[in-house]
Amino acid sequence: MIPEKAPGGDVLHAPGDLKKEAHIPSFEKYKELYIKSVESPEEFWADVAKDFFWKTKYTGKFLDYNFDVTKGEIYIKCMEGATTNICYNVLDRNVHERKLGDRVAFYWEGNEPGDEKTVTYRELLQQVCKFANVLKSQGVKKGDRVSIYMPMVVELVVAMLACARIGAVHSIVFAGFSSESLCERIMDSQCCLLITADGFYRGDKLINLKLIADEALKKCRDKSFPVEKCIMLKHLTKEDEASSGSLSPPAKRACPDLQVPWNPEVDMCWHSLIGGASEECEPVWCDSEDPLFILYTSGSTGKPKGVLHTVSGYMLYTASTFKMVFDYHSDDVYWCTADIGWITGHSYITYGPLANGATSVLFEGLPTYPDVSRMWEIVDKYHVSKFYTAPTAIRLLMKYGSDPVHKYKRTSLKILGTVGEPINPEAWQWYYNVVGEKRCPVVDTFWQTETGGHVMTPLPAATPMKPGSATFPFFGVVPAILNESGEELEGPSEGYLVFKQPWPGVMRTVYGNHLRFETTYFKKFPGYYVTGDGCRRDKDGYYWITGRIDDMLNVSGHLLSTAEVESALVEHEAVAEAAVVGRPHPVKGESLYCFVTLNDGINYNQKLEAELKKQVREKIGAIATPDYIQNAPGLPKTRSGKIMRRVLRKIACNERDLGDVSTLADSSVIEHLFENRCYTAV
Ligand code: WTA
Repeated sequence: MIPEKAPGGDVLHAPGDLKKEAHIPSFEKYKELYIKSVESPEEFWADVAKDFFWKTKYTGKFLDYNFDVTKGEIYIKCMEGATTNICYNVLDRNVHERKLGDRVAFYWEGNEPGDEKTVTYRELLQQVCKFANVLKSQGVKKGDRVSIYMPMVVELVVAMLACARIGAVHSIVFAGFSSESLCERIMDSQCCLLITADGFYRGDKLINLKLIADEALKKCRDKSFPVEKCIMLKHLTKEDEASSGSLSPPAKRACPDLQVPWNPEVDMCWHSLIGGASEECEPVWCDSEDPLFILYTSGSTGKPKGVLHTVSGYMLYTASTFKMVFDYHSDDVYWCTADIGWITGHSYITYGPLANGATSVLFEGLPTYPDVSRMWEIVDKYHVSKFYTAPTAIRLLMKYGSDPVHKYKRTSLKILGTVGEPINPEAWQWYYNVVGEKRCPVVDTFWQTETGGHVMTPLPAATPMKPGSATFPFFGVVPAILNESGEELEGPSEGYLVFKQPWPGVMRTVYGNHLRFETTYFKKFPGYYVTGDGCRRDKDGYYWITGRIDDMLNVSGHLLSTAEVESALVEHEAVAEAAVVGRPHPVKGESLYCFVTLNDGINYNQKLEAELKKQVREKIGAIATPDYIQNAPGLPKTRSGKIMRRVLRKIACNERDLGDVSTLADSSVIEHLFENRCYTAV
């Protein structure tokens, strides 16, 4: 399945000095280890597990699973019976056993240039222990769910690791989500406590996070799910740094006048609580298969799914992917630009890098603020050697040409990574040629919230690169391409990307809905985990992800379900029906093109358009803001009443070649829709 030898010809290779020191220096070595990882997973992962602390050893099989719905319930268990603590492994082990206490864990770089703070492993451990004691004093116990809704500050990492230390399950909600989305997530995972902050800046924009958090808690209360405890970090309104016990410095762009709503019955101040807390906190020893966190991801039915990951498998997998894929060495400074509110931040800002004792940049701001050189300025400032970002950011910066990049030296860079969506070869080439000056391999990492870590990816010194291809599977991952009838295709082919067996980091269930887990990922093709992505394999065996093949859209690397946006639109009293499709966008990858059918007697106008836009922002969040809204008195439907999205996608792109429309019930709607297309974004 993986070629015997690395293909020659039209591929790019890593520079020789990178190969000399690499963990996996050649394609042959990759292949040898890959075979070991799938034929004897126990042996392969035992080597990885050796580096970690285990209170007790596992009792059964290393990896026990059923991947076939026809044979009973789906389950995946890794190292069941072993006890450990992931917080102990990423902090105490580094400070005490590996003597890395003085090593920098994070260089925090605020939104405003000049706002900065350095945090060592020892300091991080102290803060985590203190905050874990705070959580305990609030009655949080092993297994309880805690919701975290915070900006990109070190305290976000402190909050998540404090949960992990006491065996509580964190459920982080990206701080760009609306109060409605936060409420839905708090209720679904039945969180007992919310941790948030007063507010933050995204570029120039001030966001009063506490206000949104309060709205969410009010919505929870209205739906008979009162959350009685909310801990708020003062990020913008803090007065006195010395007494606050906080890790973030006073923001240069502080906002002491921010109007922060306060309910003394519910709200507590992070700083006052942590001030009196002890620095001693024994970790709670957890079983390998105890839940670690829940992270919501869009589902094709519209309701987000609470993806659940457990302790040991996730720890081994994020640690080893981080080490191999970024070829981590102790002198590296690593920077992942993702937000911790997404899986990329969970796995590759918090757990993977810390498990390796790495030094990372934690960036609060935006790539374009205060100007479009900001990324490269930060790379030079901290001598970043491994840099990980998303295609949408690359395409955005590409628009401004190479001058803003050339303003900075970037000589520290060694490896560049991308994640989140297929990277078009043009953006890949710009990243490789302009940012990396042809010195730095690009690792195009394909993975999902559900997979926990990278599943298809080059290894930088071992895998010859093809621009736009996620290349080959990571250790332990066995991909296949299936046709519509579920047959495995051999050789060059295109179809559904599936995986044939689990790896330690794969999700274990959808929180509170195991049936949905089985239906979503295992029902369509029994015996396989179905990714929902299309994939092509070329003559050299390289895999090329072609994008989602379900009703999901990928806007700036964020997955959105069309159903979710449609239901937000239909909730408006003027709308009878809505259909949302993706339209290619040069920076965002896809943009949202919405067709709405209004109720009888209602006129379409700009005011209504603005209301609809606002409605979606409020229901889901700014990432789901419609780019185009078209008034559609009629939608193309099949005779059985199914909306033909395929046709709508063509209309959105003004492509007249509609293919087979013989099942269309009323073809007269098509011309009307073409005539009234939106040409400019709303
Ligand atoms: C897409 C993000 C092509 C894919 C880590 C997947 C990619 C979805 C890549 C998961 C890549 C992610 N090439 N497509 N390198 N990386 N995707 O759950 O469609 O936010 O299914 O996890 O992003 O998005 P999620």
